[in-house]
Amino acid sequence: MVAVLSCTVTTVRPTNDTRPLLTRDGSYTVRNDALDVFYHSVHGAIQESTHVFIKAGLEQVPKSKMDVLEVGLGTGLNLLLTWIRCWEGKCTVRYTALEPYPLSHAMLEQLDHCNELAWPGLHTPFMERMASTDTEWAEELGGLSFRKLPTFVQEFDECEAYDLVYYDAFAPRAQPELWTAEAFTRMHNALRPGGVLVTYCAKGEVRRAMLAAGFSVERLPGPVGKREMFRATKN
Ligand SMILES: C[S@@+](CC[C@H](N)C(=O)[O-])C[C@H]1O[C@@H](n2cnc3c(N)ncnc32)[C@H](O)[C@@H]1O
Repeated sequence: MVAVLSCTVTTVRPTNDTRPLLTRDGSYTVRNDALDVFYHSVHGAIQESTHVFIKAGLEQVPKSKMDVLEVGLGTGLNLLLTWIRCWEGKCTVRYTALEPYPLSHAMLEQLDHCNELAWPGLHTPFMERMASTDTEWAEELGGLSFRKLPTFVQEFDECEAYDLVYYDAFAPRAQPELWTAEAFTRMHNALRPGGVLVTYCAKGEVRRAMLAAGFSVERLPGPVGKREMFRATKN
């Protein structure tokens, strides 16, 4: 059964006052001074994204062709890590990313995630997709189809279209409205039965919101610098 939701979005604009910041695994993230948040863990952007979204998410989906929804495209690091798995022949992915506040081209050039990941050949198609304002699907490349929507997660209303959600919103202290039972009900609706949502967050109130939305929730070991993370499954 699919829950029906209404929506009024109130949120802060998170792209003001951003600057790149080197994390402890040698990869760059972005810091937003106005919100007092980082786009990734300061213990390592690549290590966190790989642990939470790739190892505990993508690699656990029991099919090789899948639909992935990302909440918060940000620097595009999760997209790139997923794309690399596709190029390696491990899976084929249709990737939809929500991003109401895209980072500037200059910031993405500065971060240079493709070189960090030793995939310089991906730089041009990656930047084209990150810069596009088209909400249609970009041409499939290397096993990945991509589209970017400027939609707030609080307004997202697709139904049973995804196998996996990367829930990579800013922390609850900065954007509590993104961690409510209502937001997770939207994610529950968006997933197919058996679908999974992964997030770096492991707060008790977030677990309760996920349970209220109908998920079953596992606590898993977190990435370096964090004891736990959540994986929520739609039964
Ligand atoms: C933690 S960062 C995402 C990091 C990103 N996944 C990466 O790999 O760089 C959170 C992102 O959520 C976006 N965001 C903020 N409000 C949002 C909303 N209401 N709905 C969806 N995304 C939102 C921010 O603009 C930001 O890019």
